[in-house]
Amino acid sequence: MEKSIVIGSDHVGIELKPVIVAHLESRGYKVVDVGTDTAERTDYPIYGQAVGQRVASGEFPLGIAICGTGVGISIAANKVAGVRAACVSEPYSAELSRRHNNSNVLCFGARVVGSELAKMIVDAWLDANYEGDRHQRRIDELAAEDARDPETFAKLSQVVPNRINA
Ligand code: RB5
Repeated sequence: MEKSIVIGSDHVGIELKPVIVAHLESRGYKVVDVGTDTAERTDYPIYGQAVGQRVASGEFPLGIAICGTGVGISIAANKVAGVRAACVSEPYSAELSRRHNNSNVLCFGARVVGSELAKMIVDAWLDANYEGDRHQRRIDELAAEDARDPETFAKLSQVVPNRINA
């Protein structure tokens, strides 16, 4: 099966993005870039949502989103139900975001990381696999939140020791 990935950025990410696209292609990924394409100032929520929707819909298994810090575009992507976007600036968190959080969108900041570190972050993320097991209930809790399903959330979280009685 062909490996595919969707990528997007705001104007701050347009120089780093082609470096990441080339890196992904060298790893055998088919990459679809949802923009932006120019240095003209734009808004990161547009591209965070575009990447997030294409992942949440199942069109792509994974997405990458870049803005100045990675923060704004990760907030935007995480507003799409089903998205678990991780904003990271080093490989360890990128790896753990896959193994523990089953992250499906990776975000980083073009003003924060250089291109070599960004490639290391991408590699750590792509090479890691979700571990399931004790992490799955937490992912199910996130899904219940996405579904605005407080009953399921309560049922799942009820079994957790030291659960706050909120
Ligand atoms: C744009 O100046 C900048 O705010 C944006 O790229 C991003 O860093 C937001 O989180």
